[in-house]
Amino acid sequence: MGLPKARASALLLVLSALEACALDNYVAVVYEHNVVLSEDTEVPVSPKEALMLMDKNMAILAVAIKESWYQGAHIIVTPEDGIYGWVFTRETIYPYLEDIPDPQVNWIPCADPGRFAPSPVLERLSGLVRNNSIYVVANMGDKKPCNSADPRCPSDGHYQYNTNVVFDSEGKLVARYHKYNLFVTEKQFNYPKDPEFITFNTSFGYFGIFTCADILSHDPAVVLASRFQVDTVLFPTAWGNTLSLLSAVQFHSAWAMGMGVNFLSANTRNSTLHMTGSGIYAPDGLRAYYYNTETENGHLLVTELSSRPRLSPDYPAAVDWKLYASSIEQLPSNDRYFSGVIYHDLFSFTEFTEPEGNRAICRQDLSCHLSYKMAEKQKDDIYVLGALDGLHVVEGEYYLQICTLLKCKSTDLNTCGSNTVETAQTKFETFSLSGTFGTNYVFPEVLYSGVQLAPGEFEVLNGGRLISRTSTLKPLLSVTLFGRWYEKDPTHTEQASP
Ligand SMILES: *[C@@H]1O[C@H](CO)[C@@H](O)[C@H](O)[C@H]1NC(C)=O
Ligand SMILES: *[C@@H]1O[C@H](CO)[C@@H](O)[C@H](O)[C@H]1NC(C)=O
Ligand SMILES: *[C@@H]1O[C@H](CO)[C@@H](O)[C@H](O)[C@H]1NC(C)=O
Repeated sequence: MGLPKARASALLLVLSALEACALDNYVAVVYEHNVVLSEDTEVPVSPKEALMLMDKNMAILAVAIKESWYQGAHIIVTPEDGIYGWVFTRETIYPYLEDIPDPQVNWIPCADPGRFAPSPVLERLSGLVRNNSIYVVANMGDKKPCNSADPRCPSDGHYQYNTNVVFDSEGKLVARYHKYNLFVTEKQFNYPKDPEFITFNTSFGYFGIFTCADILSHDPAVVLASRFQVDTVLFPTAWGNTLSLLSAVQFHSAWAMGMGVNFLSANTRNSTLHMTGSGIYAPDGLRAYYYNTETENGHLLVTELSSRPRLSPDYPAAVDWKLYASSIEQLPSNDRYFSGVIYHDLFSFTEFTEPEGNRAICRQDLSCHLSYKMAEKQKDDIYVLGALDGLHVVEGEYYLQICTLLKCKSTDLNTCGSNTVETAQTKFETFSLSGTFGTNYVFPEVLYSGVQLAPGEFEVLNGGRLISRTSTLKPLLSVTLFGRWYEKDPTHTEQASP
């Protein structure tokens, strides 16, 4: 995203007054890592054995970091669980944890080893950075002793946290973040008492950080983007893809666009658990992404990004998400409605069989509107328009308002919403999707056949319409407005403390 020259240099003057050598652009890297997993998950291993496994993973990450440095990178993000995997109980992960100090202690672990002993992982990571002079983001486990004076203290006398750490280009620990919204399966970790809003500044922008399932909740994710106004979010994840609305590249790119931030998403690679899909996304669209179910290899994505996207003339204007749909007179006709399930949520669907037209469907307070024209409808491709307005309650509780156009698995309408639809044959000449949303947090998703993204081929208009810019380059799997109504969420609950 280039700034016009005159403006860029004026901007540089202003910025350099604030911060020496501020950069307009920087090179971001994310690494999708196939984690070497622990084989023995029943019995706790010795700290030495734990370190041997972590060393195997760090050796792979070291190669990725070195390669990033060769390519001129300023920062690299590595995935959640990237150093030891996820196959643990509370007891068996313990030997992998380190007591990670608050970055305020001002510590370069590799230069001052033993200051907070023992910290072999922090020292090793810090050393990798120091030799390559780029920022490194990694995910590891933190342990914090506690005692019975603290009523929340677990019976084994310590907290265990899923933690991101960031090292600056000199190897100094500059950020530590404890994941707030654990996924239901993460019994090995504790929920932090309160959400942490972790940010840091660099010469190439203002950064915020959170982890995986955090992206579905308000704290800290939305707060970092809207109140702190960070430029870039760093996002280590171990994301199992769930079609048709929550595939990694699909949802993460949509969040970046909906929230108006750069977003660096590094996923874990594991085909058994459908984990793949990493990307570098900007507010006005994606810069690079990777989705590959064929190999088990790691993959490095490298691309340039604007350091201060909010100052760019290309920065998208704010959207009023219900404006356009509320102005539409057309009421849902007496079309046939039927119900279908997407990821445990009951949607209302209506099929559209004509090659072009206008359709509407309502659910509770949400009306979804679609105008479309297919290029050449393939007869085996059945598409429906769907709506959802309700609380999702499986694997986390969050309130959703969703409008979606999607392809069904087969010509049997009972297959609409199936999570195994990965291909389609029908291209669209145009589409326009809008809804009477009660929330302004709406994430626009467009997914093509083969779980591919559609860079530059759609846009969101200020009145809240998601429209095609051109006829779709590839056959269409789904077009979705994924709305999150945070005010209607139940209050954050703790579940993991034993
Ligand atoms: C860093 O570089 C120094 C000298 O070039 C080398 O001795 C050391 O082993 C390197 N450290 C790491 C962690 O790669
Ligand atoms: C970073 O810079 C922004 C302005 O660009 C400022 O608002 C913020 O307080 C700074 N944050 C830190 C952690 O220094
Ligand atoms: C994926 O992870 C599981 C553990 O959750 C492991 O059993 C499996 O072997 C991994 N699959 C691959 C292809 O590495």
